[in-house]
Amino acid sequence: MTQDEMKAAAALEALRFVDGGLIGVGTGSTVNHFIDGLDTIRQRFDGAVSSSEASSERLRALGIEVVDLNEAGELALYVDGADEADPRLNLIKGGGGALTREKIVAAASRTFVCIADHSKLVDVLGGFPLPVEVIPMARAYVAGRLGALGGKPVLREGFVTDNGNQILDVHGLRISDPVALEGEINQITGVVTNGIFALRPADVLLLGTENGVETIGD
Ligand code: A5P
Repeated sequence: MTQDEMKAAAALEALRFVDGGLIGVGTGSTVNHFIDGLDTIRQRFDGAVSSSEASSERLRALGIEVVDLNEAGELALYVDGADEADPRLNLIKGGGGALTREKIVAAASRTFVCIADHSKLVDVLGGFPLPVEVIPMARAYVAGRLGALGGKPVLREGFVTDNGNQILDVHGLRISDPVALEGEINQITGVVTNGIFALRPADVLLLGTENGVETIGD
């Protein structure tokens, strides 16, 4: 089975969580399979709140209504991928650069179902460079502070977020206390948010494997 087939299997498994109302939809290649799956169960939900321009475009192309989060209120369900997940369902996200909107939609949702292939499961987060969204004028200052925390920040060249900001990818972190580090980095002036999802981790992790989809946390 290819990695993409395992992503698709996890994404389609998440359809069983769809139970009416508006669905929070994340970003990435795994979520793209979920969006395509939503097209097959149109009678089971009303529309979507999206975490990126890319996902909004894909949803609209299928004729699925995209609703502004400010008009939606609390969402029952958010489905999104991850770049890394640990066994406690703490995540690193933001490989696609949509971390801030993803974190907002996750925060506004009662249940966060994370979908991924099994290669994303790690014992300790940090092998994947941690994305940090920064206000452009604060880039050098924030990079210095991240360096003081032991990381090696690298500017994501030629990339601008949907919010008009930049991304520093921080290499070399071994994140043994994700809750503490998420809070600490968010306290650096000029940081919009960072890609650790531990203060609000996933509730359920659906992992595509060679032997089917493994469920953690349901
Ligand atoms: C987007 O900003 C990320 O948080 C994605 O959720 C993450 O990069 C997973 O992407 P794939 O589903 O493409 O692996």
